[in-house]
Amino acid sequence: MVLTSISLLSGSQEIKKGQLTFKAGLVIPSELTYFRQVLQGFQQETGIEVTALVGEAKTSEEIRRAFLDDLKTKKSDPDVMFLDIAWISELADDGLLEELDNYQIDTTVFFPKLVKLADTYNGKLIALPGHMDGGLLYYRQDLLQKYGYQYPPKTWDELLAMSLRVQAGERATNPDFWGFVWQGSRYEGLVCNALEYFVSAGGGFVDEKGDSIINKEENVIALQFMVDLIHQSRISPPTTYQIDNEEQVWRRFQEGNALFERNWPFAWGKHNAADSPVKGKVGIAPLPSFPNHDAAATLGGWHFAISKYSDRKEDAVKLLNYLTSYNVQKNMVQTIGWNSVRRDIYSDPQVVASAPHLISLRSVFDNAVPRPMVPYYPDFSLVLQKYIHAALSKAMLPADALQKAHEELKVVKQKFEKS
Ligand code: GLC
Repeated sequence: MVLTSISLLSGSQEIKKGQLTFKAGLVIPSELTYFRQVLQGFQQETGIEVTALVGEAKTSEEIRRAFLDDLKTKKSDPDVMFLDIAWISELADDGLLEELDNYQIDTTVFFPKLVKLADTYNGKLIALPGHMDGGLLYYRQDLLQKYGYQYPPKTWDELLAMSLRVQAGERATNPDFWGFVWQGSRYEGLVCNALEYFVSAGGGFVDEKGDSIINKEENVIALQFMVDLIHQSRISPPTTYQIDNEEQVWRRFQEGNALFERNWPFAWGKHNAADSPVKGKVGIAPLPSFPNHDAAATLGGWHFAISKYSDRKEDAVKLLNYLTSYNVQKNMVQTIGWNSVRRDIYSDPQVVASAPHLISLRSVFDNAVPRPMVPYYPDFSLVLQKYIHAALSKAMLPADALQKAHEELKVVKQKFEKS
């Protein structure tokens, strides 16, 4: 069989009718290279030609919008989609995802919690997990040692104290040096960061019934702490709330301009790449917590689903099985540094040797806190983004911002329930 090479088209280009297509966003730049290589492997193994439609969308929101544009106009492409855990329920509730129960897919290889939480909607299997994210603390091991610290911080106050000291010391030779960098601009990443502070203070977003608890005192304290990192102790730069997302933050840390960084697992690979100025100097740990509370990592990650309007459903299932197969998931951990969703990968001797941090941090991922898995989550998130950001930019006081958010979140839920 003659195989044509993988074509990479931008969203607007012509696709041959009946072609099997795969679409992902570009949350991290290496995603493109990674998927190009994986799809080539699928093509070689099965003889099925596949085209990658790699859109230009970079943030989770932009990527969601691009998928909604395809789906709402009932396009037969893309067949296979790579979706953020945050909005799978919305697409499933709108009936836009193919139900997978009839395709004999073995889901027992995955972490059951993930499949139950994210890939099952109203009792039907509608997606398969692709990779699992959890917020982590990256730190400069060499700098902690230089200033006499043996361990990374366990509490937010320790992180603050270490940052103040190291920042003051390092500024003597590097005026661009900051204690702690994290994602605080107005987008989904901010919501993920906020959840970690809130839960690690004993708060959270919703109760068991899904009702907002956002105005809880614990959340107000946690949000005040976030504000103070930027405006009072000034260990986090003003760019935190102005522009910082995952990419800005790993770049700043990688350039040697930060002691601590909050990011997802992919950053480990970046920091330890051959050309990284901080290669070999980086440690990784669970995020800190407030006293007497457990630390929390937001559960993130991306999942594979098939469009309801796909005209290649059988082949799309083959691609899903390939993308979640042992060898592909193993290669994923080793190349792009994404955390596997398969349980068996964690006892693979080569993975244990090449990514020991993912093994030792297993409990972070096992206990990661999901955002509300409800179809109206995108609207819910927009309210949180608006008000948490208003506090970070000092347009509102934390207590007022969270009270307003609480009122609007109630309306979002009620609207959905009435529709
Ligand atoms: C990562 C996570 C995703 C989250 C996003 C926020 O891509 O995997 O779940 O929504 O970051 O920026």
